[in-house]
Amino acid sequence: MPESPYLVIYPERVRANYRALDTALTVTGTRIRYAVKAAPVDDLLVLLADEGAEFDVASIGEIEQCIALGIAADRLCYGNPIKKAAHIARAYALGVRRYAFDTEDDLERIAEHAPGSEVECRFLSSAPESKTPFGTKFGCRPDEATNLLIRAHDLGLIVGGPYFHVGSQQLDPSAWRIGIEQAGAIVQALADKNIAATVVNVGGGLPVSYVDTAPELSDIAAAISSAAAEFLPESVRVIVEPGRALVGNAGTIHAEVVGVRVAPDGRRWVYLDIGRYNGMAETENEYIAYRFVTDRDGDPVAEAVVAGPTCDGDDVLYQRTKVLLPTTLRAGDRIQILHTGAYTASYSSVSFNGFPPLTVHVSGAERE
Ligand SMILES: Cc1ncc(COP(=O)(O)O)c(C=O)c1O
Repeated sequence: MPESPYLVIYPERVRANYRALDTALTVTGTRIRYAVKAAPVDDLLVLLADEGAEFDVASIGEIEQCIALGIAADRLCYGNPIKKAAHIARAYALGVRRYAFDTEDDLERIAEHAPGSEVECRFLSSAPESKTPFGTKFGCRPDEATNLLIRAHDLGLIVGGPYFHVGSQQLDPSAWRIGIEQAGAIVQALADKNIAATVVNVGGGLPVSYVDTAPELSDIAAAISSAAAEFLPESVRVIVEPGRALVGNAGTIHAEVVGVRVAPDGRRWVYLDIGRYNGMAETENEYIAYRFVTDRDGDPVAEAVVAGPTCDGDDVLYQRTKVLLPTTLRAGDRIQILHTGAYTASYSSVSFNGFPPLTVHVSGAERE
């Protein structure tokens, strides 16, 4: 067994997630584009390519990784609206012909360095806040999206269509309905100018059950499919861009208790060999509440503050969230953290405090 902490990924679960989502998305021609950042694991990229997925890539690093694995560049979309001119040029040289943007500035860079490419314009939808929201970091106003896509057409680019992301770990299926209705209005406004959008990208955000149960993927897919049928013309293809939902429940982190102590304020602290900087980044603001499994489950439990191993005061996973752990937990005990396939290894630092990044092991077993 490798030294903990490490992440075990179950590829067959990723395949099952992909197939279940594909089946549940009933609108003809809907495409699934995997957001590589969630778990950029070679085996998973190859598996999803075999299943027919497209790939949302955020950087030259992710583009080069996909291409090195033999994934055709025409299956990639450079979906990060924040890109340098040099990176657009490099992506174009590597064969990437699809880009997302949300400013005129970026659009002009794409027109110059990736001429004739297809573009999607990200707008800020009025969807309710998700568990890990983007705030206003991305997305223009919907009316700006119409104007920018007209400008894209004038710059000789191929108009894909509007694009929104309802925020990661979105628990409200109506969020997609709101976004699709807004996207439908943009498609119509473009049609009024004789510009035919071909796609609407409804982003990711599809949730996973952690401590709290999330809606089923089939419920989200039903909301997307029915809104698409209601608000979009048949000629428009829907693109769904999940990261978390394809890989989240396909991974388990194996960690160890480094120590337990009662602090001067009387609270019990449990220190793990995994923390904010080597895989548990999504516990920032305690947004994601992961489930713990220990070998002592069944013993009496009490509240605990859970912290990571570094000397950093922010390296605390949970101090407001109520976490109940066995009172018998001791240094050296093993602890599993469930549904940690998404945004864990890909987030871990190279060597903060000298701790190595989280290692990933791809399991040959079909299930845990
Ligand atoms: C552009 C883009 N698409 C898709 C995703 C995937 O989101 P999720 O993992 O919530 O499905 C992200 C996540 O940050 C993103 O930035």
